[in-house]
Amino acid sequence: MSDDVRAWFLEQLWSPIVAVTAAHDGRTNGLISSTALNAGLVPEAPRVSVHLGKHNLSRDLVLQAGVMAIHLLPANETGLALFSALGTTSGHDRQKLDGIATRPGETGSPILVDAVSYVEARVTSTLDSDELTIVLADVVAAGGRPQAPFLTIDDVREQLSADAFRRWNKRREAEMEAARRLRRAAAVATSPRRSPD
Ligand SMILES: Cc1cc2nc3c(=O)[nH]c(=O)nc-3n(C[C@H](O)[C@H](O)[C@H](O)COP(=O)(O)O)c2cc1C
Repeated sequence: MSDDVRAWFLEQLWSPIVAVTAAHDGRTNGLISSTALNAGLVPEAPRVSVHLGKHNLSRDLVLQAGVMAIHLLPANETGLALFSALGTTSGHDRQKLDGIATRPGETGSPILVDAVSYVEARVTSTLDSDELTIVLADVVAAGGRPQAPFLTIDDVREQLSADAFRRWNKRREAEMEAARRLRRAAAVATSPRRSPD
């Protein structure tokens, strides 16, 4: 297998950059995701899916609340600041939405006031997959401006500050380590027991 082809190919499968937010029991939080997709075939009953890492606080809040909001961010300094605040640190360490303008949406999920557009969705099913949970959700509300330009990963790569890149890399290292631990634990749990000699 060519490592170059594999890395390039998997990168082509990134979905647009979005911010996923949720609130449960007075706690609010959000993260950056590149795995949100249109996941429905019925236009009058739209669905989305997103993959959420088990080590991320947002995943716990989405599952506890049963609802979430998914936002496209503005292609400007505000969007970059939201990307950096939500995607490079964890709500396990600090209250990330403090200082970020939000309002409660129809589902009670925090809506990022500066987002270009958003949908709110109600979780219909989940798939547990070692280090992450795949969440399928019915879209129940939407707002913002259609067809407005939004922040892309190319914007991020061109304009994110060196400091924010350092935080992103540090967070990614920690995530990969946590994911490897969960994969190892899952492999041990499913491996056949050795019979006693
Ligand atoms: C470009 C990019 C894409 C990401 N995609 C996902 C994703 O699809 N699912 C996920 O759980 N985390 C994803 N992350 C990582 C989370 O945004 C990051 O770990 C965040 O700090 C988690 O915050 P939380 O613990 O407060 O929920 C992504 C991060 C970046 C920068």
